[in-house]
Amino acid sequence: MDEIFHESNHIVTFVWSGRSGKGGTTKQVELNHEYIECYSKDTTKVKMKPVVNIQGEGNYKDKKSTYKREHLRQWGQGDRREDRPSMYFPIILPNGEEIYPKRSDGSEGRWRFGEETVRKLQTDNDLDFVKDENGNVTVYRKIREGRESIMATDSLLTDKGTASSGTLELKKLFGEKVFDNVKPTTLIKHLIDLVIYDDRNAVILDSFSGSGTTGHAVMDLNKEDGGNRRFILVQMTEATEKEPDKNICKDITRERIKRAIEKYGYDSGFQYLRVGQALDAETLLEGKLPDYKTFARYVYYLCTGENLKDENDTVIPAKAGIQKKKKLDSRFHGNDTAKNNAINESTFFIGTFGNQAIYLIYKQDYEALTRMALNLEVAERIIAEQPNKKRIVYAPACFLDQEYLEEKQIEFVSIPYNLFQRKG
Ligand SMILES: C[S@@+](CC[C@H](N)C(=O)[O-])C[C@H]1O[C@@H](n2cnc3c(N)ncnc32)[C@H](O)[C@@H]1O
Repeated sequence: MDEIFHESNHIVTFVWSGRSGKGGTTKQVELNHEYIECYSKDTTKVKMKPVVNIQGEGNYKDKKSTYKREHLRQWGQGDRREDRPSMYFPIILPNGEEIYPKRSDGSEGRWRFGEETVRKLQTDNDLDFVKDENGNVTVYRKIREGRESIMATDSLLTDKGTASSGTLELKKLFGEKVFDNVKPTTLIKHLIDLVIYDDRNAVILDSFSGSGTTGHAVMDLNKEDGGNRRFILVQMTEATEKEPDKNICKDITRERIKRAIEKYGYDSGFQYLRVGQALDAETLLEGKLPDYKTFARYVYYLCTGENLKDENDTVIPAKAGIQKKKKLDSRFHGNDTAKNNAINESTFFIGTFGNQAIYLIYKQDYEALTRMALNLEVAERIIAEQPNKKRIVYAPACFLDQEYLEEKQIEFVSIPYNLFQRKG
């Protein structure tokens, strides 16, 4: 986390008392807390939700209200005159005498506030002057009943649910225990509300989403306060050679969100998408050529900013609002793309987008790639296939001149096949 965010952006380590002690174990100490590291991209932009404290009834009373007393003189650390020289000044008592802040050893102290604030407190009748039997006067500030004070939030998280309450929440949806280490939605809701309380349109990302608690918590928070927060959950299948069909992401993460929407009537929908092979220069340079379909989807996305639909993808539309469903669908399929898209390696066709037809001349084979190009034969076939569209062709090379391409409304985009050549 220090490497990613830099240690200067570490805000706090929360301590979550999230495990209920079992007691009676043979251990000397029962661990009943966990840590939550809080980092920001930029600490100057963080605005944590403050705690508003409302003062209760006090032991003292005047005409205005009951109140508690607080010493006006600074106590403890930094209580000397030289610590804050501007907070050393006389207060004029009702009998006209002057009083200066004095430490218990008789040396010069200081008040807790500057002169202007203290004068105002005095005018507002918010100071108490108390004389002892020796005639020494102590000055107090009146902390009035009903007064609001803003306090910093606590680093200690108690009453925010426990690991067992998280497990129980999931059990309520699945009828049995299906996942270990489930966080309670109450904890995640608290954290979301704490760090981005002033943005109800926030996007919350959980890249290790497990049973999907974060998604559930976001939907719950939105229901509570009418927010429009969205979530992105990332999860791996956890499939292994022994369990090739294991798919936590589909069977638990996705299923949990679906069931929560149904059970709690959340007005939320979501898309379930599968991440393809990672395609970046590094992977390619390592010599990992993507298969045709994966690369085609990537090219389509680069070209249009939209995703091609995959038979494994799911869209769960929000219940209330056909409008929302439409929005999701059009974002998902592109305008008229869904019905026209059928990736075809033998014809190089990937799909259409508006008035464009997109082609990819490519093969998952280094040798073949060096010989592949947009040539006259391919161009003529493409023109015949898509007579009314602008044709965009991704290929390792082009054997046609610019004039011809312009006349035939063909745009050639070079795929840097030299990138694909195995190094060393
Ligand atoms: C402890 S669980 C998270 C539990 C979650 N907070 C909950 O309440 O259910 C962490 C999850 O991260 C997943 N994970 C670990 N490494 C991953 C990776 N590189 N990409 C995606 N998921 C990953 C694991 O499969 C595991 O299910």
